[in-house]
Amino acid sequence: MHANQAYKKGVTVNNGSDKWWHRRWVKITGISVIVLITVAVILALVLIFVVFAPKKSETPQSEWSVTGNMNTARLLHSASILPNGKVLVTGGTSSAYNFLNTAELYDPTTGIWTATGSMINARSEHTASVFSNGKVLVTGGADNSGVLNSTELYDSLTGIWTTTGSMTSARSSHTASTLPNGKILVTGGAGSSGIGLNSAEIYDPLTSTWTTTSNMNNAREYHTASVLSNGKVLVTGGLFIVNYLNNTELYDPSTGTWTATGSMTRVRAGHTASVLSNGIVLVAGGYSNSGFLNSAELYDPSKGTWAATSNMTNTRGIHTGSVLSNGKVLVTGGRSYNALDSTELYDPLASTWTTTSNMNNAREYHAASVLSNGKVLVTGGAGKTANLNSAELY
Ligand SMILES: *[C@@H]1O[C@H](CO)[C@@H](O)[C@H](O)[C@H]1NC(C)=O
Ligand SMILES: *[C@@H]1O[C@H](CO)[C@@H](O)[C@H](O)[C@H]1NC(C)=O
Ligand SMILES: *[C@@H]1O[C@H](CO)[C@@H](O)[C@H](O)[C@H]1NC(C)=O
Repeated sequence: MHANQAYKKGVTVNNGSDKWWHRRWVKITGISVIVLITVAVILALVLIFVVFAPKKSETPQSEWSVTGNMNTARLLHSASILPNGKVLVTGGTSSAYNFLNTAELYDPTTGIWTATGSMINARSEHTASVFSNGKVLVTGGADNSGVLNSTELYDSLTGIWTTTGSMTSARSSHTASTLPNGKILVTGGAGSSGIGLNSAEIYDPLTSTWTTTSNMNNAREYHTASVLSNGKVLVTGGLFIVNYLNNTELYDPSTGTWTATGSMTRVRAGHTASVLSNGIVLVAGGYSNSGFLNSAELYDPSKGTWAATSNMTNTRGIHTGSVLSNGKVLVTGGRSYNALDSTELYDPLASTWTTTSNMNNAREYHAASVLSNGKVLVTGGAGKTANLNSAELY
């Protein structure tokens, strides 16, 4: 009886024309909820598999990006970071025998180049050194008349160049290093006869004069000079007439003397030398009578010894080497029988090289500058088919 009543009641409810789920508002709400859930699920799937999915099929983002073009194509120029963070590029050549006296400034905040005052002398294969007061000393180099002994000073505040003292020797493809006492040491280079020099001289910014210091043990050009953390200057390798050099020497500013400090494992010129944060010097690549080199080696100033480290992936000379804020060293481009667009990174902790993305342009005889924002600005150089006014950032 009770069961039957319940059954009847249930049948009545189940078959009635006023079933609760037939009511219009219930239908509308139900359909809306289903539509909302469906949309939410589709949205979630799109987010998971399309928007946030790792882009395996696409090429990874390049580590290099194009920035503003210089006003002039140039190679064998100089590039210096000014105290205000801008980059001053000077001189170089735009084509064979077309030596430049123009200079331009790169603003890292806008990526734009603007012309600044022109040097008094056109010059390429010169050096540029920045003083803490923002003045920049350019020295020597070559123009149509030959190798130069002239030097000039750029004032970052006025954008104007003025002649300062002449070096005792004309020199090109030499080095310039800022000593701890603020003076500039220039070493070697090709003299007016075109042959490598063993002489060295020092510029005093207080008196605007040059004075000779002791001669190096070896004459050399296309060598490197690095200021070590102990204030001494390490000069490595280079070329003398037809002889590529493996010997290295140390200049002590307190005594004004040079001392031999071991030979590299390879003879090399047109290489790079980078002082690592631990004080060790990384020398990489270059060329010799056996061609372009992939070898790299480390100088330990505490022992005065050289030891090979891992080879670069590419052979290269006339490249650039920059110490990054993370302690790694970025080498870019250069030449290995043709201009290279490849770049590689040395990790001092692992003692290994890894290939990075290629630059947008192959470049040799270019320049690289580490900006205060940590990026590396690569400027100009010779490409595979044309001289470049382009610049790019790593
Ligand atoms: C610098 O070179 C010029 C031109 O060759 C020459 O006239 C001048 O005497 C040289 N100066 C010094 C200090 O050697
Ligand atoms: C350095 O070069 C000289 C001359 O080419 C050679 O005699 C010498 O063995 C080399 N030294 C080393 C350590 O390779
Ligand atoms: C580096 O490359 C040179 C050839 O350039 C080769 O002789 C040498 O064995 C290589 N060294 C290492 C550690 O791979």
